[in-house]
Amino acid sequence: MVRPVSTDQLVATDSQYLLHPLHSSTHRARVLVRGQGSVMWDVDGREYIDGLSGLWNVNVGHGRVELADAAQRQMSTLAFCSSYNGQSNLPAIELAERLSRLAYPNLNTTFFTSGGAESNESAFKTARYVWKRRGKPAKVKIISRRHGYHGVTMAAMSATGLPPYHTMFGPLVPNFIQIDGPYLYRCPNGVDPVTWAPATGEALEKQILEEGSDTVAAFIAEPVMGAGGVVVPTAGYFKQIRAVCDKYDILFIADEVITGFGRTGRFFALERWGVQPDIMSFAKGITSGYIPLGGIMVSDEIADLIRGGSGGATWMHAYTYSAHPTACAVGLANLDIVARERLVEKSADTGAYLLSRLKDLEQLPNVDGARGLGMMAAIEIVDDKATKTGFPAERGVSARAIALAAEKGLITRQRHYGAGESIMLAPPLTTTRDQVDRVISILADAIPAAVKATT
Ligand SMILES: Cc1ncc(COP(=O)(O)O)c(C=O)c1O
Repeated sequence: MVRPVSTDQLVATDSQYLLHPLHSSTHRARVLVRGQGSVMWDVDGREYIDGLSGLWNVNVGHGRVELADAAQRQMSTLAFCSSYNGQSNLPAIELAERLSRLAYPNLNTTFFTSGGAESNESAFKTARYVWKRRGKPAKVKIISRRHGYHGVTMAAMSATGLPPYHTMFGPLVPNFIQIDGPYLYRCPNGVDPVTWAPATGEALEKQILEEGSDTVAAFIAEPVMGAGGVVVPTAGYFKQIRAVCDKYDILFIADEVITGFGRTGRFFALERWGVQPDIMSFAKGITSGYIPLGGIMVSDEIADLIRGGSGGATWMHAYTYSAHPTACAVGLANLDIVARERLVEKSADTGAYLLSRLKDLEQLPNVDGARGLGMMAAIEIVDDKATKTGFPAERGVSARAIALAAEKGLITRQRHYGAGESIMLAPPLTTTRDQVDRVISILADAIPAAVKATT
């Protein structure tokens, strides 16, 4: 493409020819051209801290030439081969074997996809497959949580618990049901979160009983909700969820699309709470976003069922790009970096610092509810801290804060639907403390300025 002479022309060409995710005609595209570590530059040479690691995925940071080299080597050797039954390739075999050593002990078998929604579609279909093979074909329902995000293909969208994603695309796929999740900031004053139903296994158990356990295939949850506002559960939540799933014969799908590969300060997030899922979805951090790759890992029991299926019971699920050799080669090189640079430990360490600095921001009159785990964190923007009352949505305080932060050199995102407004942060795991300080100082300026500018 010929580079138009001015940025305005480039932006006009973008809006003429591109539809963007969550398309809005009022957004002017920021055209980015280069990245290094936690920093990116736009076409006019302006510098930004990448406060959300791209889209929660550039875990090892930008500018890793060794990932480009891995792709180049694989593309010039064998760019693509089908992985349909009867064929495989070297990077996919090596990556699947490596994942079995890194994931929960019961998950040793991988099916690769190209992204998060494809992974969750695979998880839902596999859950239904399992119950059909086990002679319980009526177990088809999928329970998810409000504020959860699982992608926006039809079934994934139906599991996603953020209503704006549904408004113009309904009706949802039947047999997808949502319950409240452990959004602790919204735990009513005076109620102990440890006993608050949405923050325990109680909400799930109640829903299973309402539906009839013989109709429910699986429960899906992000260990820490990402797009819904970085919702960190209580320490006991997932143990209780696991126990409820076991009690009623429900599969537990962990959506680790964001939380996997070190993001929360553990390699996979549920490790922290001593819980194992039956199926795990992953994507994003497996290649740090350098090339699309995702997948599901399934328990040994489920893998055995699939391997034992033939004829009409064959697991007839497939994507052209499953186990793409170049994507898998980049995944391997990315995992080498994560191990060599001890990025999981670094995520825990810098993440604790990030959270402590966000708690400092609570001194501002409109910032409350700092929370986080590893390198994913958020703050709540509220009008009145005592009552936790938010600003009217149409005032657009957090959106303005994000725009002002970008002007000052920080790119990140806000969540403005449901129960109030949050600003989320998930910088690369390699981010330095100095860069964290810069993020905090930008927000400390941008948030009060946004409150003032919108009155
Ligand atoms: C937890 C989670 N699951 C699934 C997805 C969907 O992934 P994709 O956009 O690659 O389809 C996302 C995307 O942000 C996510 O955060």
